[in-house]
Parts: sequence; structure tokens; C-alpha cells
Amino acid sequence: MQDNKQTALSGIKPTGRLTLGNYIGALKNFPSFQEQYHPFIFIADLHALTLPIDPEELRQNTLDIAAFYLASGLDPEKSTIFLQSMVHEHSELATILQNYAYMGEMSRMTQFKDKSRNLNEKQIGLGLFTYPVLMAADIILYDTKVVPVGEDQKQHVELTRDLAIRFNHRYGDVFVVPEVSIPKTGKRIMSLSDPSKKMSKSDPKGDIFLKDDEKTIRKKIMSAVTDMESRVHYDCEKQPGISNLMTIYASLSSLTIEEVEAKFATSNYGTFKREVADLVCSVLIPFQERYRHFLEGDYIDKVLTKGAKEAQEVASKTLKRVKQAIGIYQVK
Ligand code: TYM
Repeated sequence: MQDNKQTALSGIKPTGRLTLGNYIGALKNFPSFQEQYHPFIFIADLHALTLPIDPEELRQNTLDIAAFYLASGLDPEKSTIFLQSMVHEHSELATILQNYAYMGEMSRMTQFKDKSRNLNEKQIGLGLFTYPVLMAADIILYDTKVVPVGEDQKQHVELTRDLAIRFNHRYGDVFVVPEVSIPKTGKRIMSLSDPSKKMSKSDPKGDIFLKDDEKTIRKKIMSAVTDMESRVHYDCEKQPGISNLMTIYASLSSLTIEEVEAKFATSNYGTFKREVADLVCSVLIPFQERYRHFLEGDYIDKVLTKGAKEAQEVASKTLKRVKQAIGIYQVK
């Protein structure tokens, strides 16, 4: 695994069904980091416990994400693909780091506020509150330089930076301070049924799920909420639905928004939507075939076993360094 490249690290939580938002904001971008960086890409299964989840669903989602990683083009020879819970250093570093995070900054985390808003105190587990500390541990364990994520994770990466800087200030240069990498186009894909809301794992009508069949994908795109303007023009305020479809088109075709606008300057919404549906299907259908292929046999277990070994090699060194810095006695 010694390739002397800097680390790019990211993860996906195995909750709910993965969406086109996860694909465009995160998944599809991971392989592009394989040349310049060494990607550490993991399944954030400990994070999945922060809200109630059915055990069988958690197990199946975990396998699904592993297969999605491989289907996206991540190569286990160039990337370290692993399961968070197989590398105990994540939990151990989080236990240490939580002492350096403040209640105030944790309470300001937008995701915590969003997810706990409709729950009463007896329903909000402590893990939901401390989640960003575990995420900080995930990142800094690997001397991570860059963290490719969608926009909704930016605040968590900023908190990670703050924690790393705070820790370094007190103990010397123990941690690499990571930077966030957010895609220029597609950093926040919106719901097709309500373009004022983010496409998230829990909205069956407004989400395109990565396992949806072709007919369902087409139906959802053709019935996406638009407006009365009748021109394919990018304006997130006045035309949020069309702008969202343009973003999806641009992200999957590698065209700029301006190029998409020019290409469909004379098209009506029906024609444009059909083109978006064609493009999404041309990407997702072969992706699903690759995903199914990787689920066969025990290939995923092999990849995860190899990945955990590689990850632990790096993580254990960082944890030793941390223990040394803060004064935890380590027997020789
Ligand atoms: P998660 O599982 O919610 O989402 C996985 C990735 O998908 C991106 N994403 C989106 N991008 C664009 N548009 C959308 N509608 C959209 N919805 C989701 C997310 O930004 C993310 O990149 N906390 C993380 C998992 C995690 C992690 C980490 C990530 C745990 N530790 C360390 C990076 C580094 C999460 O819940 O992502």
C-alpha cells in the first residue's frame, strides 16, 4: 500500500437507499482521486446507528455500498475500501477527540438540528449529537489531505479542521489539517418533487434511487416539478426544478451549465426531461449491472478484509502518535 501519495478520504452511511444525489455529489467523483491521491473510501456503518435502523437492513445496505463503490470504478489496488467498524481505531480516536470538542459548536451543527428537530429528548440518542466527532476521527486518522463530499457535509469537515488545529495548537503538529473538496456542479442535488429540499435517502417520489429500474427512473424524471417559464434556463430562485435537472444533466455529461443551456435553448420541457432521463438511464443501468456483478460470491468480503488491514496499518500509527502526545502510557 506504500504509494507515498497524499490521502483523499470519504465515506457513505449505510442508511436508507442511496440516491442520485449521493452518486453525483460523492460516489462518481471518488475514482477521479485515484491517480493523484490514495483514496481511503469507507462504509460509515457506525454512523448508521445514530438513528434507529433494522439490523438486516444495515447488513444489506453495507454490502450494497461496497458493491456501489466497486461499480463506480474504485479499484482495490489503487484505493483502500473498508468498513469503519472493522478498524477499531475510529472509535478509540473519537473517544479521545470528544474531549476537545465543545457542546456549543456541536449544537450548531445543521445536520444535528435538522435530524433532531422533530424528535423529543427521549428519541435523540447521544450518538446523533457526537456524530461529527466520530466523523473528525474518521478523517484525521489517515492524515487526510482532501475530503470529497457533497455540500451538506462541509460543516462537518470544517469542524474537523477546527478540532485538528485546536489539538495541534496544544500538542504540536500531530494531525494533518484536511481540506474539503466539493464538486463545482452537483454539490446539492434537490428533490424532484420539491426542489426546495435536498434529495435525501427518504423521499420515494422526489428521489431517484440507485437501484430504481429504468421505468421508474424515467417516470420520476418526466414528472419532476418544473415551472411555467417554459425555457431551459438556469435560475435557482425562479426555476429551481429546471435548474436542478440542468445540474443533473451537466454533472453526468461533464458539460457546463452554460453548455447545457445552449444545447437545449430551443427545447420544450418534455423534450429536455426525456434527454435527462436518457442520460440518467445510460449511466445508472450499466452501473447497476456492475453493482450486481460485484455482489456475487465472496469478492466483497475479500476487498473489505484487505481494506481493513491496510487502513489499520495507517490508523494504528496515528493513534499511537496521539496517545504519545497526550500522555497515555504505552507499554513497549
Ligand atoms: P451521507 O451518507 O449522508 O452521504 C454520502 C455522500 O453523499 C453526499 N450527498 C449529496 N450530494 C449532492 N446532493 C445531494 N442531494 C446529496 N445527498 C448526499 C454527501 O454530501 C456525502 O458526501 N457523514 C457522512 C458520512 C461520513 C463521512 C466521514 C464522509 C462519515 N465519516 C468522513 C466523509 C468523511 C454522511 O452521512 O454522508
